[in-house]
Amino acid sequence: MKQLGVASAVDASVTTVGGFGIYIHWPFCTTKCPYCDFNSHVAEAWDPANWVDAYTQQIKHFAEVLPGRTLDSIFIGGGTPSLMPVALVEGILDTVMACWSTAPELEVTLEANPGSSDLARFQGYRRAGVNRISLGVQALDDGDLRRLGRTHSAFDALRAVDMAIATFPHVNTDLIYGRQFQSVSAWEAELRRVLSLKVEHLSLYQLTIEPETVFAKRLEKGHLPGLPEEQASLDLLEVTRQLCRDAGLANYEVSNWAAPGRESRHNLVYWQSGDYAAVGPGAHGRMTIQGSRYVVENTRQPGSWLDGIRNRKTFSQTMKKLSLADWAAEYLMMGMRLTKGISLQRYRALAGRDIDQVQILQLQRLGLIVRSGDNIRTTEHGRLLLNRVILDLLP
Ligand SMILES: C[S@@+](CC[C@H](N)C(=O)[O-])C[C@H]1O[C@@H](n2cnc3c(N)ncnc32)[C@H](O)[C@@H]1O
Ligand code: SF4
Repeated sequence: MKQLGVASAVDASVTTVGGFGIYIHWPFCTTKCPYCDFNSHVAEAWDPANWVDAYTQQIKHFAEVLPGRTLDSIFIGGGTPSLMPVALVEGILDTVMACWSTAPELEVTLEANPGSSDLARFQGYRRAGVNRISLGVQALDDGDLRRLGRTHSAFDALRAVDMAIATFPHVNTDLIYGRQFQSVSAWEAELRRVLSLKVEHLSLYQLTIEPETVFAKRLEKGHLPGLPEEQASLDLLEVTRQLCRDAGLANYEVSNWAAPGRESRHNLVYWQSGDYAAVGPGAHGRMTIQGSRYVVENTRQPGSWLDGIRNRKTFSQTMKKLSLADWAAEYLMMGMRLTKGISLQRYRALAGRDIDQVQILQLQRLGLIVRSGDNIRTTEHGRLLLNRVILDLLP
């Protein structure tokens, strides 16, 4: 097995294959959902002029750090970006477009909550350059929406999907399943309804109880009954896979399904270990500069982030160099989430060593991965045991 030795930087061709994106974080929501651990805050008021100014400064800063790149994706996430005034989105997109050249198929996504979806605003976002909307539908059952702490009804969600389809060329809907007391047959009926809307991309997440959330505290006190046991979770996943497959959507990543060619470019940048600049409070980025990989993390508190940029002229961010071993491990962990898997050669170029061939053979024998030439990827069964597969492949 050829050992390439310990280096601190790698050839540029290895670093640019994952694509390039920019993530802009909008941190505000009207209420905080009890399951959510995203960096989202409920605020009384904020001044759009201050925000456009701060975003502009940080975008320009990254353009100096990463000059000459071609953008594949811009993603405005949150929080609830559908609360942003059109002029703010327009200001951000104009700045980004002036800083980098863009790929012909540039994806420009904005996350929207059905509780704050409005046709005139959607049309404004479209005119500003947004071409993909990601709608947090979460459920099509009013009781479940209430239990999830959502402020919208199933009717509002369906109306928002209609508005999105009428306004944007590309639409994703997020749903959360594995909810309290949710039967397989109820989920099947709900998912059939979602699929009948013919959106090209679905993100279907099993409910996760994240530490420190209201749900985590309720669970600890025994006040969150009816969550699925392991077998029920597997049954929910099985019906999800079957219905999406029948509808012509491919499960290209653990929780993501898309029509052919309609995979999210932005998420592919993450999972293929591409570069992404991160703008806004709490946003995390990865940037390759002269063959070295950096992790960038912005201050989480919106006020501190804003104040740092506007008054103290600092970016309230940390920038830490990743070792090649950590970079390679991240490539493996993110890439194995994708159904198409990873390149063994790219892993070797980063890690300076091969993945253990004995482990690969063992996982193949167990039916958890398949290998073809330079590529390894999980089987459907392997994706159920993804954490174990990743642990076995890591040195
Ligand atoms: C930042 S939120 C998206 C947009 C918007 N804030 C909203 O909720 O409508 C991203 C998505 O992650 C999913 N999500 C968030 N917390 C989750 C959890 N604890 N378990 C499963 N999915 C979760 C939801 O489907 C949510 O739409
Ligand atoms: S609206 Fe979205 S980001 Fe805001 S609290 Fe709810 S799930 Fe989190």
